[in-house]
Amino acid sequence: TIKGLVFDLDGVITDTAERHFLAWQRIADGLGISIDREWNERLKGISRTESLELILAEAPTLILDAAGKTQLLDEKNAHYLELIAEITAADILPGIPELLEAAKEGGCRMAIASASKNAPIILARLGLSDTFDSVIDPDALTHNKPHPEIFEKAAQALGLRADECIGFEDSLAGIEGIKRAGMPAVAIGIPTFGQWIPDIEVDATRELDLKKIFSQLAMKE
Ligand code: BG6
Ligand code: MG
Repeated sequence: TIKGLVFDLDGVITDTAERHFLAWQRIADGLGISIDREWNERLKGISRTESLELILAEAPTLILDAAGKTQLLDEKNAHYLELIAEITAADILPGIPELLEAAKEGGCRMAIASASKNAPIILARLGLSDTFDSVIDPDALTHNKPHPEIFEKAAQALGLRADECIGFEDSLAGIEGIKRAGMPAVAIGIPTFGQWIPDIEVDATRELDLKKIFSQLAMKE
């Protein structure tokens, strides 16, 4: 039986995935590289430094030293912080408040498994700092998504086995991590999948319904 829920943050709890994209797009533009939303799917769930490397790989003739890269990472984050400066509880995605409430009423423990170093700031702005039993610190990880470590740590932090939790993700890297951790996965708004297939797919957070998710998973057993 399911006793815990593990959530990605950006693009699942709030629409910061779009803001990450806009901030990266400005960096890419400045380098003469054009990225669109479809290309951006590969950056979702990926750490800040790895995201920059993927963008730079689009312009193989462009060689940057460590200081140049650090400057771009700082610029991206400064712009991103501007873009999230005004977020409030009104920016929690549709259906999420109801889902969190239903989970709490049902006695589910809840954790955040986000690659973002900005997760605590965002949760505070959303008024959700006290909602989750654990927020995994990405700086304490050895491996980034798609490695399952962050999801394994989240289950552990909740005192549960991975198969007693459900993972919610809007990224391919995240779905892979959840499945490799041995956790049932709910995919939100992911256009196409590769090797790793979620247990449940929805187009948007407003379709999330905890009772329905529980019964769909029970039917799969
Ligand atoms: C993930 C996002 O949650 O966090 C990525 O999906 C982002 O787009 C990553 O790059 C790192 O975030 P931050 O806030 O530490 O730059
Ligand atoms: Mg995400």
